[in-house]
Amino acid sequence: MKLSETAAIVTGGASGLGAATARFLTAAGAQVMLFDRDAAGGAALAGEIGAGFVPVDVTDEGSVIAGVQAARASMGKITALVNCAGIATGEKTVGREGPHGLDSFKRTIDINLVGSFNCLRLAAAEMAQNAPNDDGERGVVVNTASVAAFEGQKGQTAYAASKAGIAGLSLPAARDLASQGIRVNAIAPGLFLTPMLEGLGEEIIAGLSADVVFPKRLGRPAEFAALAAHLIENAYLNGTTIRLDGGLRMP
Ligand SMILES: NC(=O)c1ccc[n+]([C@@H]2O[C@H](COP(=O)([O-])OP(=O)(O)OC[C@H]3O[C@@H](n4cnc5c(N)ncnc54)[C@H](O)[C@@H]3O)[C@@H](O)[C@H]2O)c1
Repeated sequence: MKLSETAAIVTGGASGLGAATARFLTAAGAQVMLFDRDAAGGAALAGEIGAGFVPVDVTDEGSVIAGVQAARASMGKITALVNCAGIATGEKTVGREGPHGLDSFKRTIDINLVGSFNCLRLAAAEMAQNAPNDDGERGVVVNTASVAAFEGQKGQTAYAASKAGIAGLSLPAARDLASQGIRVNAIAPGLFLTPMLEGLGEEIIAGLSADVVFPKRLGRPAEFAALAAHLIENAYLNGTTIRLDGGLRMP
């Protein structure tokens, strides 16, 4: 799908990987609608890059339905969804305070996995109404997993399970949506320098970077954005999860 003909929803678009993707897509001539629960950050970025913004909580069905309707009304169509909204959480299965909280486990799954699927199903229903392009495509979805889907670390049962769920649903969702001409892929980022990681401090960031094979640094959000854009453009990429990690294999 040509970026210049793309009308994309980017969730988590107020910050980090979502913000970089929104910048990349608008610079390439795409229409973009940001979804984020951070109303101030979303509105500020939208104004700066010429995108639209709707305050949306991805876990809330009514909120995403309203957001998708607003996106359709503003852009005239929805042809792409890039799911970046998510939270990073850490808690051991049994820690000093006792067993992992059930509510905290459910909350991580709810935002990262259920929230992504909530946007996918509602945006895909809208995409299915589009006239197909020359390749028969009506839409494309890019989800965000993590290398934690495959090599989760201590304290990451909830986060890793949420991201393994994202990796797991790419193929069946692509199969479900094939007859409507909608592709579904996921990116599994390694370590990217976004507000999610910036708070860790220089020493910890240097330690994390040491395990990256090459280049020995954290990923740049623009590098994630470039892959998300390629997944929109390349009609033969479907049903897969692509690692974007500089060769990093966490212990
Ligand atoms: N940064 C990394 O190294 C890294 C690595 C692997 C995977 N990821 C994944 O990439 C995605 C983006 O991460 P990031 O580093 O850009 O983080 P970030 O914290 O910079 O941005 C996440 C955005 O999601 C929004 N958000 C959170 N919950 C939401 C909800 N319920 N509804 C709507 N918006 C919500 C936040 O307001 C924020 O703007 C996440 O899914 C994260 O798990 C990041």
